[in-house]
Amino acid sequence: MPSLPLAVPRSLPLVGDTLAYVRDAPGYMQRRWDQHGPVSEITLLGRRWTILLGPDACAEALRNADKAFASGPGWGYLVGPFFDRGLMLLDFGEHHQHRRVLQQAFTRQRLEGYAAALSPAVARGVAAWPAQPGFRAYPALKSLTLDLATEIFMGGADLATPEELARVNRAFVDCVQAATGLVRADVPGTRWGRAHRGRRVLEEFLHRHLPAKRAGGGDDLFSVLCRLRDEDGTAFSDDDIVNHMIFLLMAAHDTSTITVSTVLQHLGQHPEWQERCREESLALPEHPTLAELDSLTSLDLVVKECLRLVPPVPVLARHTVRETEVLGHRIPAGRHTALMLHHSHQMSELWSDPTRFDPERFAEPRREDRSHRHAWEPFGGGVHKCLGMAFAGIEVTTILHHLLRRHRWSVDPGYRAPLSYASLPFPKDGQPVDLVPLTSLTPRSAA
Ligand code: HEM
Repeated sequence: MPSLPLAVPRSLPLVGDTLAYVRDAPGYMQRRWDQHGPVSEITLLGRRWTILLGPDACAEALRNADKAFASGPGWGYLVGPFFDRGLMLLDFGEHHQHRRVLQQAFTRQRLEGYAAALSPAVARGVAAWPAQPGFRAYPALKSLTLDLATEIFMGGADLATPEELARVNRAFVDCVQAATGLVRADVPGTRWGRAHRGRRVLEEFLHRHLPAKRAGGGDDLFSVLCRLRDEDGTAFSDDDIVNHMIFLLMAAHDTSTITVSTVLQHLGQHPEWQERCREESLALPEHPTLAELDSLTSLDLVVKECLRLVPPVPVLARHTVRETEVLGHRIPAGRHTALMLHHSHQMSELWSDPTRFDPERFAEPRREDRSHRHAWEPFGGGVHKCLGMAFAGIEVTTILHHLLRRHRWSVDPGYRAPLSYASLPFPKDGQPVDLVPLTSLTPRSAA
């Protein structure tokens, strides 16, 4: 999901903090922590923001005991109207009601179905990757996860022609890119103008296919949402389904892409971990079940460590709907609040040598993630905690499982990904990796 709209004109006053964040968010957070502690205030583009840093302050806001922090007006200010009424933008009673229904789309049984559909689709996708030096993994992953979303979320080829799906993908990308638009109105030729048009394309497309999805018994997420019922047997309205679909597409897209990209970098720099993960993958069938995916324990440690080093959602947005307090600091009503979760992942009070890639820190007996209940929170916490966490794990693991079985890759040990934090963190150079086909592909299961 998009983060703070931090691409701002350099000429504006008071943009020092913004630019410092965009260039080096972890460094910015560390400096704020050192200078101002867990709760502080800044002015960004004429608005006062409260900044929360460290696990105690962030946890207090996420616990939200007095229901002062609202997610809808917090995120809505940043992502605009393009993800209107998605789950993350609903609050309190209404959010609770929708979440209870939506979580039925992510039960273990449903996840098994998505896992079974994902694996062949991923295999087809990565088969098209050319084995070459300097292969730009990030754009390739972006396009792969978009295709997977179209397939698993919407039913892919059964739903529409490749041309129409390409148009829908374009519309979706336009909505995602709006977060960093400078002109925040429906003006033709601007990011927001394109996003408004994109939202209309998505709405029209989803509404048009909805009756068939309601009538059919498909296993894609779109069909599943049509069948969900609350305790009284009431189904989501057509508008609810369209709003949830658009948000779910967005929530699933960049986050998984960033995670796999970070893993590719670190496994490329740490061949011993790459081999350890490959061993486990080669011991499984090409298309593993969910239980078999769960047995990839080394990969699990690596993914956790990569989510610690580069959390795809480094900051959460909230807005206070009444006056409240965090760690004894008063926060007035009507205040934008940024929960800088990433900082908890890099605190030397919680992690040994925090900048080092060291997946073993998540294994017994070290379990550094238990140094504080909120030390590691890439999926957030409280009532808005990521609903797609298990799905994300399956998608990320499945992509890496296929890459490990098909390729060996390397990345210069001295390489540091030039991450831009203008929206969600992404490598500006496209994350180059040297890909070599795994010639001696002898999966034990095939022996
Ligand atoms: C590695 C991948 C992912 C990461 C790191 C991630 C992270 C997050 C975070 C931090 C939040 C909390 C936002 C907040 O409190 O303001 C969130 C919410 C959410 N995520 Fe994810 N996410 C990922 C993948 C996914 C996927 C694949 C899906 C859907 C299939 C998804 C669906 C959602 C939904 C629906 C919410 C809103 C939950 C609510 O408001 O109740 N996410 N995610």
